[in-house]
Amino acid sequence: MHVIVHGGAGSPPASPATRQATLTDAAEQAAKAERPMEAVLAALRPLESDPAFNAGVGGAVQSDGEVRTDAGMMTHDGQTGAACAMSGVVHAADVARTVAAETPHVLLAGDEAVAFAAGSGVETDRDLTTAETRQRYERANPPDGGPADHLDWVRAHFSGTDTVGAVATDGDRLAAATSTAGRWFALAGRVGDVPQIGAGFYADDRGGASATGEGEPIARFGLARHAVEQLDTYGPRQAAEEAIADFEDATGGRAGVIVLDRAGHTGAERNTAAMQTARR
Ligand code: GLY
Repeated sequence: MHVIVHGGAGSPPASPATRQATLTDAAEQAAKAERPMEAVLAALRPLESDPAFNAGVGGAVQSDGEVRTDAGMMTHDGQTGAACAMSGVVHAADVARTVAAETPHVLLAGDEAVAFAAGSGVETDRDLTTAETRQRYERANPPDGGPADHLDWVRAHFSGTDTVGAVATDGDRLAAATSTAGRWFALAGRVGDVPQIGAGFYADDRGGASATGEGEPIARFGLARHAVEQLDTYGPRQAAEEAIADFEDATGGRAGVIVLDRAGHTGAERNTAAMQTARR
């Protein structure tokens, strides 16, 4: 199994070595899976459980004090599932996989997605905050201005890293998955790029991609699908570079992307200060 994992694009993390060890371990565990779909979920679970990453436990807190998780996953042959705006769900990617495997739909949202998760055996009712994120939320002093002022304030005060993702192939089958708690102090119920097909995640016969960064421009541009489309012309390394260059030209946004083709070649690029990855 070939695997590439990312721990989110953004500013340099506080403990890069510890996070890198966790990412490397996640990639190693994923490589033991029998199928790419299991591999990407095996990679994401430890990251969703680790408060050092913005997904699951310790993830970004929305403006009403709630952490809501989103995820999406897709295989080379079009199996697709996503789930979003879920309170109390650590392993959002497991819910996305269950949507793909057990329903005729591609996206479930909110309380109904949480009920579906519980009925499918995915753990719910977890407190996704930590002492640190509760303190960050309680001590924050958001401005009174309009949404634009608010976003500038979020960028200035909550610049950490964003989202986790993985792509895996056994040389034949391929899967991509992305999981997040979104943006700090977003409007309650805001959903970004991560559970939107072609934006936060995408896979087809050519390969797969997982995106990370500013969700609104990523969603408008369709970054993950654009990165996979570059595989018509380039190998994965240049596909990732071209995708981020095109994304920046088109949107001015900040993002990163990982790309894997079905032969197992990898690429990763960002226009942020940092994005940690691990490959196996
Ligand atoms: N890229 C994660 C988000 O904006 O929700």
